[in-house]
Amino acid sequence: MPQKLDAYWMPFTANRQFKKSPRLLTGADGMYFTDDKGRQVLDSIAGLWCVNAGHNRPRIVQAIQKQAAELDFAPPFQMAHPKAFELAERLVELSPAGLNKVFFTNSGSESVETALKMAIAYHRVRGEGARTRLIGRERGYHGVNFGGISVGGIVGNRKMFGTMLGGVDHIRHTHDPVRNAFSVGQPAYGAELADDLERMVALHDASTIAAVIVEPVAGSTGVLIPPQGYLQRLRDICDKHGILLIFDEVITGFGRTGQPFAAQTFGVTPDLMTVAKGLTNGAVPMGAVFAKDSIYDTFMQGPEHLIEFLHGYTYSAHPLACAAALGTLDTYKEEGLLTRASEMQSYFAEALHSLKGEPQVIDIRNIGLVGGIELASLPGEPAKRAFNVFLDCWDKGVLIRTTGDTIAMSPPLIVERTHIDHIIDTVRGALRRVA
Ligand SMILES: Cc1ncc(COP(=O)(O)O)c(C=O)c1O
Repeated sequence: MPQKLDAYWMPFTANRQFKKSPRLLTGADGMYFTDDKGRQVLDSIAGLWCVNAGHNRPRIVQAIQKQAAELDFAPPFQMAHPKAFELAERLVELSPAGLNKVFFTNSGSESVETALKMAIAYHRVRGEGARTRLIGRERGYHGVNFGGISVGGIVGNRKMFGTMLGGVDHIRHTHDPVRNAFSVGQPAYGAELADDLERMVALHDASTIAAVIVEPVAGSTGVLIPPQGYLQRLRDICDKHGILLIFDEVITGFGRTGQPFAAQTFGVTPDLMTVAKGLTNGAVPMGAVFAKDSIYDTFMQGPEHLIEFLHGYTYSAHPLACAAALGTLDTYKEEGLLTRASEMQSYFAEALHSLKGEPQVIDIRNIGLVGGIELASLPGEPAKRAFNVFLDCWDKGVLIRTTGDTIAMSPPLIVERTHIDHIIDTVRGALRRVA
């Protein structure tokens, strides 16, 4: 235990509560963390939706170690290193059809900012400079930077930060517990909510709208699965009006829903796709934006010595991140992890839905290896009941995650049935003890 906990201002953390009773992780292997008391803690959330291949995987560790000794840094502007190209090529082998160009960032938030800027600049380059409006969705989470919170729709993440970006509007979210509670997989009702985009067009005119951004499965707002037909309808409306469709696949990317990307699981291809997290198995920060060839090609005009897209980060395609990502893709491939969720999902779904009827459980939602268990809020104290369950599970050696009063689960894709049983039994016990 460190002697002083004062200096570190922790992100998205109840700092005072944490510092009274710290939860410190000191090691990890496979499905487990080790804490500072030497306990093994089962990881039901892949770290933070990112450690898809499990912890401390040898290929990834070795790739990072080797890279650190070989090439620590290479400037990414007007220069490059070979692994950046190798990684981009490897990624487009996996990506949805037509998304063949990859721009590297360092996080999900940066990927979102990059995609939003690409969308607006794309329209300008092709002579429709009035298309600057961005449409997000209520309850959406797109990271924490100004573009992301502007198109995002989680009120707590927005209300403290002023007016944010101008020219942003939101379609309605798809959560409909009255019609869809306890749906297994994609809920039956709500495709028509995509028609909200037509309302936006009627209000603002398509000629002012650059792009719509949604998470195929909304994660941080509490695991909202897209209703059957919803994403296709959104795609059709975008096509009708020349609006770009951006999928934020920061949590759904890299096997979470049963295919490499949710776009493939749901059979709907966006124009731009943001990823991060599972790209490097969480081992080194990295994000990326996939773009359709036609978007990249649109930028490739004018004098050849001029920079076509004035955007990038000092650490875009950082050598350590590229090495980690290549080691990650090797691990995914060797172990068939990018489709393993499709094999495990029915067992996972059955175990998850066995919690129906436990204290305070008002809805259960699932797709692939993602699960959401929604609890009734304590009157006047939103998020407290789920937090109590989180603390009880931690006490019993299982790390879960809560968002509002929803318990969100996203185990590493190497999860076995015995782990699932252990996670669900622990949550069941916690619900009975403290919910
Ligand atoms: C859908 C989505 N977009 C963006 C982000 C932001 O990613 P980061 O925390 O790496 O900036 C997240 C993080 O959870 C996310 O779930």
